[in-house]
Amino acid sequence: MIGAKDFGIDLGTDYIRMYIPGSNIVTEPDLVVYHRGTDQIAAIGQKAERLLKSDAERYVQYELKDRGEIHDYSTTKDTLSLLIRENQRFSFLLHPDLLMAIPHGSSVIERKAIRDLCVQSGFNEKGLYFIDELLASAIGAGLNVTDAVGCMIINIGAGNTQAGVFSLGGLVSSGSLHIGGRDLDRLIVDHVRKNYGIMIDISAAEKAKMQIGSVLPHDMGEVDQMSVEGRNVRTGLPDSVVITTAEMREAIEPAVADMLDCIGGVLEDTPPEIAADLLESGITACGGGIKMKGLKELLQERTGLTIHEADRAQEAVIRGVQKVMQDPSAWTGIYSELLQ
Ligand SMILES: Nc1ncnc2c1ncn2[C@@H]1O[C@H](COP(=O)(O)OP(=O)(O)OP(=O)(O)O)[C@@H](O)[C@H]1O
Ligand SMILES: [Mg+2]
Repeated sequence: MIGAKDFGIDLGTDYIRMYIPGSNIVTEPDLVVYHRGTDQIAAIGQKAERLLKSDAERYVQYELKDRGEIHDYSTTKDTLSLLIRENQRFSFLLHPDLLMAIPHGSSVIERKAIRDLCVQSGFNEKGLYFIDELLASAIGAGLNVTDAVGCMIINIGAGNTQAGVFSLGGLVSSGSLHIGGRDLDRLIVDHVRKNYGIMIDISAAEKAKMQIGSVLPHDMGEVDQMSVEGRNVRTGLPDSVVITTAEMREAIEPAVADMLDCIGGVLEDTPPEIAADLLESGITACGGGIKMKGLKELLQERTGLTIHEADRAQEAVIRGVQKVMQDPSAWTGIYSELLQ
């Protein structure tokens, strides 16, 4: 029986999402600040953003994840400890239980390291459960994973692309890679630096991607363009440049191609009788990355399958965690290979 009744978490590259029974899903930016010159954590998420805005000199900022993986275990440990402390509901609970979503494809060693850090953060060692993000997102997106009829989920986040086909409660085929929306932003930053000698922030690149970006080749002729501001790498002075949809599409193409290859590979690995089910049900897509303009159309074109964007696509994983926590007996046993 999955006994985690206290705390559910999806530690994403862009956002930390939490579910605590009795309250709503909470989403916080993946940002942590420490008091400068100390090892004292000051705040996470929006509160950390406010502290940085009010007095940037006093704080040092960190992100927990890079390219879809935890890259700083000690900061993550401090963050989880702070989350336990900040939740009044746990003031009487020394060591709360935890159900944590783990990216598909994490190695046994990574899982062991995450388990250790959760215990060191103060979670109950005996009440610690992991759920594969693919399974959580499929459940959260409302797919009937126990059905004999196959269904497919893809999750394109900021740091990961994950894809899987389920049938009879098991994974028939799956794949993942550490490439997501943040990599598109990085490629835009590189493009502007190489071609115009201007260094722009990754947040400026993300804004341009969302405002005028498109992955569809036939949008190449579009005249969409916008001005992005940064710093001239030669003069060191503020500078700006106008970039277009077409050049951005070209810049992000390598990462988009990798995402498409990952999803195509999963389809190739799917036995024909289950692949045939997908002709009817199509592919359900979640994660913020699927909102990239033209991506659903491009995927549809490449796979020949209908792409449905899940309702509240960025919350699919944590909503799956919530469903499992609310009715643990419905999921125990069937998914033992994906729950540990
Ligand atoms: N309208 C949009 N157009 C393009 N990209 C978008 C849009 N909205 C969100 N995104 C991208 O979605 C990504 C965030 O998605 P999500 O919240 O699913 O990531 P995450 O769960 O934090 O990361 P991961 O699961 O990969 O660790 C960002 O890269 C963001 O730029
Ligand atoms: Mg995610």
